[in-house]
Amino acid sequence: MSLLEVEELRVKIRTDRGEVTIVDGVDYAVEEGQVFGVAGESGSGKTISVLALLQLLPRGASTSGRALYGGRDLLRLSGRALRRVRGRELAMVFQDPLTSLHPMMTIGRQLSEHVRIHEGASKRAALARAAELLAEVRIPDPERALHAFPHQFSGGMRQRVAIAGELATRPKLLIADEPTTALDVTVQAGILRLLDRLRRESGLSVILITHDLGVMSSIADDVSIFYAGRIVESGPTKELLSTPRHPYTRALLDALPHPEDDGRAELLAIPGLPPSPRRRPAGCAFHPRCAYANDASRVQTPPLVTVGATRLLACHVDPFAAPS
Ligand SMILES: Nc1ncnc2c1ncn2[C@@H]1O[C@H](COP(=O)(O)OP(=O)(O)OP(=O)(O)O)[C@@H](O)[C@H]1O
Ligand SMILES: [Mg+2]
Repeated sequence: MSLLEVEELRVKIRTDRGEVTIVDGVDYAVEEGQVFGVAGESGSGKTISVLALLQLLPRGASTSGRALYGGRDLLRLSGRALRRVRGRELAMVFQDPLTSLHPMMTIGRQLSEHVRIHEGASKRAALARAAELLAEVRIPDPERALHAFPHQFSGGMRQRVAIAGELATRPKLLIADEPTTALDVTVQAGILRLLDRLRRESGLSVILITHDLGVMSSIADDVSIFYAGRIVESGPTKELLSTPRHPYTRALLDALPHPEDDGRAELLAIPGLPPSPRRRPAGCAFHPRCAYANDASRVQTPPLVTVGATRLLACHVDPFAAPS
């Protein structure tokens, strides 16, 4: 059985202009020790879909579907069971690291209180563990850092402190929303190595949301591509990035500069804009921007179905099918 099985996840948010469907039926599974990547343009519902798992959605939001974790549906947990799972098993690094640190408390206090609440350690032991965690995320001079306040750190350092705080409880599943976006390349590589080590040594599973397909290919085992609140394609990362089958995935990759380019190669921007959840086109939501769309694309939402041994695809046309 998978560590986490998400089935038909839907999130609707009530706004002053009516209810909008933000996440529109998402299915995936995360295995133990797996890094599961989530990519897709801004506004495609990546963050909302993971906030739903922890019941951290904004007011006015409602969910349907299931998210099975250890035989229980995360979407329906409440009270103590929910706090237990959130504190000990599931952890989340937020897209904006500033929101997860208290500005008026020293780093040492924030981290050690986290450790004490969850592990019942003594104050001293908790501080020692906090220093250890800071060292793990490569904060220089961890002992000194314990006495510092968040504003004394750079954005990248704060991001690493936030990650340290989440790892304090040794979660089984870490949800990381753009955890390395604010970091420079060397620090980013350090965080990715850390996640990779935790995955290998302690079987940590990670749901990693990132725009950066370079980061994705270096660490994620599998990747799902989100478009307008749905998964349009998923599969093993290396395979999917080398032979994308959905026209949207292909367009995303074409829009990336290649590292070996001399800068003169033309980047192919995807024409048009992603639709707002309020004005999602009928059929395949990508069809107005897609050169391959057919009549079916305009009226029927393509289901996500297995293609080949390891891939899933939601496209009526499948113009890049492997020749058989
Ligand atoms: N509180 C809210 N009320 C109404 N709509 C919301 C709310 N929060 C998010 N949305 C809408 O939900 C959609 C998905 O947002 P989400 O934050 O999940 O996108 P994302 O894929 O994480 O994008 P990004 O890559 O920019 O982080 C967006 O269209 C956004 O405007
Ligand atoms: Mg987001």
